Amino acid sequence: MFTLAHLSDPHIGPLPPVRLEELLSKRILGFLSWSLRRRRLYITPVLEALAKDMAQAAPDHIAVTGDIINISLPGEFEHATRWLSTLGEPDKVSVVPGNHDAYVAQDWRATIGRWAPYMTTADLRNGASHEQPLAGENEFPFVRLRGDVALVGVSTAVPTPPGFAGGTVGERQLGALRDKLTALGRKGLCRVVLIHHPPFGDPRHRRKELTDYPAFCRCIESAGAELVLHGHTHKSGLTKILTPGGHVPVIGVPAAAARGHGGKDYSRYHRYRFARDGEGWRIEVEVRGVTPKLDRFSTEATFTLAVP
Ligand SMILES: [Fe+2]
Repeated sequence: MFTLAHLSDPHIGPLPPVRLEELLSKRILGFLSWSLRRRRLYITPVLEALAKDMAQAAPDHIAVTGDIINISLPGEFEHATRWLSTLGEPDKVSVVPGNHDAYVAQDWRATIGRWAPYMTTADLRNGASHEQPLAGENEFPFVRLRGDVALVGVSTAVPTPPGFAGGTVGERQLGALRDKLTALGRKGLCRVVLIHHPPFGDPRHRRKELTDYPAFCRCIESAGAELVLHGHTHKSGLTKILTPGGHVPVIGVPAAAARGHGGKDYSRYHRYRFARDGEGWRIEVEVRGVTPKLDRFSTEATFTLAVP
């Protein structure tokens, strides 16, 4: 049985020292938001308690679905790279970027590209099991083969104007995603898609949506997948994408460092166990949430998904 832990949106703090010229962009808004509000809502002790709890269960793999940092400062990428190394070896941790990791337009290699060891990809055309780190944002989605499970990492991280927090998969990536999911489906693997933004609309927050979520859903509908995991909403979520054969569960977790506040959930992460079940999959889900004292995590719910 393959086990996977999923967390999202750690929003690691505190912010490193900032130079004035680094704030002459959309960053000034994010900096004010962090200083006035967010630094009290997303706190290191909660993130540390989560990491400790997660390590105790020793999952086979960990998925981090973006927004590791806040306003994409060079010092934040440093900090995040160190933090990722504390979670596990790069072959046991997968990362997709979120909108806060692409807060302003920057060079890939100096920013998100630093996490490329956590975003390696197998070359499905050659059937080679050897994985190469992504060389740029145009190489998403990545595919990491782990036993019967294929982790498919989609990037929705694109710089957006001030006041916007949306994301886009893009036509090129959607085409590649369709091809890769189809190929993995033929191999009979359990396809777990990792994506920061949820694949549904939010009429109250259009500026935070995945702009092409209908096209993403059509891609999943036609090519198939067994599970979609996301972050971004800072809330727990369980929805589905309808497919000809049934549906694909879509599951979101709150922000990993959240103490819980007006309308947003306190920190949770999920533990998954995947097992073949006849022609399909049995996926057991355990929801681990931070306790009221914010110093440890406990099981809040368990449920099982039968995926045809
Ligand atoms: Fe976030």
